Amino acid sequence: MLVRIVENPYSDGMFTHAVIRPPGANFAEGLTTVELGTPDLKVACKQHTAYCEALQRCGLTLVRLDADDLHFPDSTFVEDAAILTPRGAILMRPGAPSRSGEVDAIRETLQEFYPRLDAIIAPGTVDGGDICEAGDHFFIGISHRTNEAGARKLAEILARQGYRASCVDIRGIPNILHIKSGIAYLGESRLVLIDALAEHAAFRDFEVIRVPAGDEYAANCVRVNEFVLIPAGFPELTRRIEELGYATIPLAMSEFQKMDGGLSCLSLRFTPPG
Ligand code: GLY
Repeated sequence: MLVRIVENPYSDGMFTHAVIRPPGANFAEGLTTVELGTPDLKVACKQHTAYCEALQRCGLTLVRLDADDLHFPDSTFVEDAAILTPRGAILMRPGAPSRSGEVDAIRETLQEFYPRLDAIIAPGTVDGGDICEAGDHFFIGISHRTNEAGARKLAEILARQGYRASCVDIRGIPNILHIKSGIAYLGESRLVLIDALAEHAAFRDFEVIRVPAGDEYAANCVRVNEFVLIPAGFPELTRRIEELGYATIPLAMSEFQKMDGGLSCLSLRFTPPG
């Protein structure tokens, strides 16, 4: 069943743009904790192209950065470098030293769209993958990448923008790098949650769509305007989401999964202010 729904999960407007950056020649040298083998760059580029086409199908204009072949093998995961809300842009300070320089290219790009950029500062660290926006509330994962000082600073900046935020410590949860490895906001007060997060008090005001056993990687799906982009190969979670009336676009993600990357990490979705 594929029923397009038109209600927008974001009170301040639909996404119109997305920053993307293809994987570089050094992609396989990136950080990873999973043991799924070495990614095939050609296949990764093909999957990335299909991902970009899906964003365009969702109505987004793409802001393409050149692949970085030399310095930042994880730089295709652009979502970790910034948080973009309808009310402002915040540059992250990634928790892995090898990724800190990725922010420079994102800063330069976002300056074209935002009159002011806020930023996480030392000793704080925050990876964008640890932030889940759910309407006017932001969940901040405290992880091995995102620390309390970073979370506090981010919550402060978000409060200035008129948003609420709360922290969820995910350090004891096995097999998730970022909080968004285990959660997605679909809009309409609905959260997709893996079992390890489903009973957490932080999410009690939301309708929970539990991720079936074996489909955990697909918890990192992403609502983009009228569609939900979801990793291909996880039919049970896809079916549950479609039964709620969402149109899904399944996308092959195998090569990014090998590098501990989720589907949401491959883009920074936003609507420029004004
Ligand atoms: N390879 C994605 C990350 O570790 O940040």
